[in-house]
Amino acid sequence: MADWIERWKETSSAAERSIAAAGDLDALEKERVAWLGRSGKLNLLMKELPALPEDRRRAWGGPANQDKNRIVGLLEERKESFERAALEGALTKAEIDPTLPPPPPSRGRLHPLTLALDEMISILARLGFSWAEGPNAETEYYNFEALNIPAEHPARDTQDTFFLKTREGSPGLLMRTHTSPVQIRRMESARPPIRIIAPGRVFRHEAVDASHSAVFHQIEGLYVDKNVSMADLKGTLDTFLQCLFGSQTKTRFRPSNFPFTEPSAEVDISCILCGGSGCAACKRSGWMEILGCGLVHPNVFKAVDYNPELWSGFAFGLGVERIAMLKLGVTDIRMFYENDVRFLEQWG
Ligand code: PHE
Repeated sequence: MADWIERWKETSSAAERSIAAAGDLDALEKERVAWLGRSGKLNLLMKELPALPEDRRRAWGGPANQDKNRIVGLLEERKESFERAALEGALTKAEIDPTLPPPPPSRGRLHPLTLALDEMISILARLGFSWAEGPNAETEYYNFEALNIPAEHPARDTQDTFFLKTREGSPGLLMRTHTSPVQIRRMESARPPIRIIAPGRVFRHEAVDASHSAVFHQIEGLYVDKNVSMADLKGTLDTFLQCLFGSQTKTRFRPSNFPFTEPSAEVDISCILCGGSGCAACKRSGWMEILGCGLVHPNVFKAVDYNPELWSGFAFGLGVERIAMLKLGVTDIRMFYENDVRFLEQWG
């Protein structure tokens, strides 16, 4: 039998060759077990060492141990290089360029509806209107009755109104279908002259589509004083709409009907896209419908104990989403509520 040291050298160089040939981390682990594991070949040889004559043991023990450590080192080196390659592979596959600076942190900004609301409110504030608000959950009295909407009026149809469950005996509540109840609340708690706007949420039991949402926003306007006329209403709205859409904007008042105003009108503006010549956005009419308004109905004054012979006023109500859509060129109202950052990022 060959000298122990010969067998050691042969085994260790065989180990070196197979370690170099191992193709991946798994193969490498098998090599470690085969040579250095509990019954690995190098380990078994090591166990023979104590049985050798003392002079050989002394001569060979040291160098063999160093050699074993060298093999351990080779295994480590290969392992690291496989791991590095795996990481680099993952980085290239994911197309990560670690030398690029990180993307800038995204900044918060105001919601497009808030921007539109703020702009409209600030114009109206300059025209002398001050802020008022009322509850979203209203009584039938404020939402309908006091606004001259009798029980059998179609606006009361359960189709349009969300009614709330209330305890028996307490007054029925509903989600307000418009901001007009704030007119009543303000007139009850103040004396003329009154000049308020009431921005806020309104609720309608409707199917949601590109131009309808069950929850949307309105701005209510109310002016009450002596001798308020249609001319005051028209002057105020003309100024407001020209500030909002540009000084070239023309307005058109069409007769309409609201229970709480008499006379009533719907207001159109000249199309903000084509200027009035007719395009797809205004359905070739040159006009876009923008809000409802009128002079406060005598029955509304009676409901709040104002003498209709003495006081007069105008009111208007506009849809915030509708105006924001026109101004921003948004064609689907649902975009405002979906919180898609790619949409929201475009303004503010
Ligand atoms: N409240 C009405 C609506 O929601 C709008 C309006 C307000 C009309 C004030 C006239 C006066 O349709």
